[in-house]
Amino acid sequence: MKKFFLAPSILSADFARLGEDTQKVIDAGSDLIHFDVMDNHYVPNLTMGPMILESLRKYNITVPIDVHLMVKPVDDLIPQFAKAGATFITFHPEASFHIERTLNLIKEHGCKAGLAFNPATPLNFLDYTLEKLDLILLMSVSPGFGNQSFLPSTFNKLRAVRKIIDANCSDVLLEVDGGVKLDNIAEIAFAGANVFVIGSGLFKYTNYELIIKKIRNELQHAYSRSIH
Ligand code: DX5
Ligand code: ZN
Repeated sequence: MKKFFLAPSILSADFARLGEDTQKVIDAGSDLIHFDVMDNHYVPNLTMGPMILESLRKYNITVPIDVHLMVKPVDDLIPQFAKAGATFITFHPEASFHIERTLNLIKEHGCKAGLAFNPATPLNFLDYTLEKLDLILLMSVSPGFGNQSFLPSTFNKLRAVRKIIDANCSDVLLEVDGGVKLDNIAEIAFAGANVFVIGSGLFKYTNYELIIKKIRNELQHAYSRSIH
């Protein structure tokens, strides 16, 4: 099994050429696509709905798509995103009235389920949910916008979640979202993450292949460091 997964956030892609730009980062070596949904209610920004996801699937984007719902309420959108082609659906616990019910709904619609933690959201939301989760997303910025700076408090939180995961012998994925760049990705991996959302840190470059190659190199260093 591959140890690290790269998930470009297409929030930073060229929206006028979304299909083309998405395909380019996949061809350059990405593993999945991170799809940020914002509703101007749970977060102060407005982005993409299920129609855009469906268009990407029709454009023949076949890699797993990781839908990050920054919306409130959550449940009504789950069937729509599942139908549009989501692989993972991740939501914020504060945005759901019944977290367990929302997790079940995601599973019933054939998707993998993720729970997202804002920088100040406590980890006790994992207490009764861990066994239902396929992915834990730690926000390393407050949600709503791309191109913000990585919050260093995320490192302790990452280590704490990695401990919980390992103590439970779980294979849940641990994703970090916000401010991930070439110069901090190794440290983030070393702290325990294995899925990396990267928006501005990838799309601001013109040569995606070159930057992904450098990122993989950094991750390789983190891996070697962790096994020694
Ligand atoms: C922020 C989004 C992120 C964002 C990351 O609310 O959830 O996925 O696109 O962008 P960068 O990598 O630029 O911080
Ligand atoms: Zn996101």
